[in-house]
Amino acid sequence: MVRILTREEVKKHKGATWVIIHNSVYDVSEFINEHPGGEEVLLERAGGEASEGFEDAGHTPDARSRLQKLKVGEISTTEHKDLEQKTEDWLAVTKDPNELDTEPENSYAVPIVIVVVALLACFYYYYF
Ligand code: HEM
Repeated sequence: MVRILTREEVKKHKGATWVIIHNSVYDVSEFINEHPGGEEVLLERAGGEASEGFEDAGHTPDARSRLQKLKVGEISTTEHKDLEQKTEDWLAVTKDPNELDTEPENSYAVPIVIVVVALLACFYYYYF
């Protein structure tokens, strides 16, 4: 079950370093030392918002999937903040894997092509 937290709880949390990225809470205590971008950027944001910094650094899909393993909870929906633009990478990794590819992108293309071909056939039959 997902642990729901308020921003105040994240801020006051003792014993572990938590950061908030896209309304989810991550425990970066163990990861701080190995962060390729350095400890400082994480410590500066400890207990608070790190979404913008995270996106600005242009993290790879690998970094994004690491993130998922550090998740400890989610911010209560009443306190959600959304960045104006989330990257497509982000949306891809945060989507429920079961939802992925259930609806192929070209699901409308096939019927449209059939209708167009049928119309062309009628047109051809009528005029020639
Ligand atoms: C828990 C959250 C984070 C994780 C799991 C993470 C992970 C990583 C990883 C794996 C890299 C190596 C390059 C890549 O694969 O993209 C990286 C690089 C970097 N990260 Fe993070 N990061 C986190 C948070 C942040 C935040 C909040 C900032 C800034 C505010 C930041 C700034 C950077 C920078 C500047 C680099 C580039 C380092 C370089 O190439 O010299 N990261 N991070």
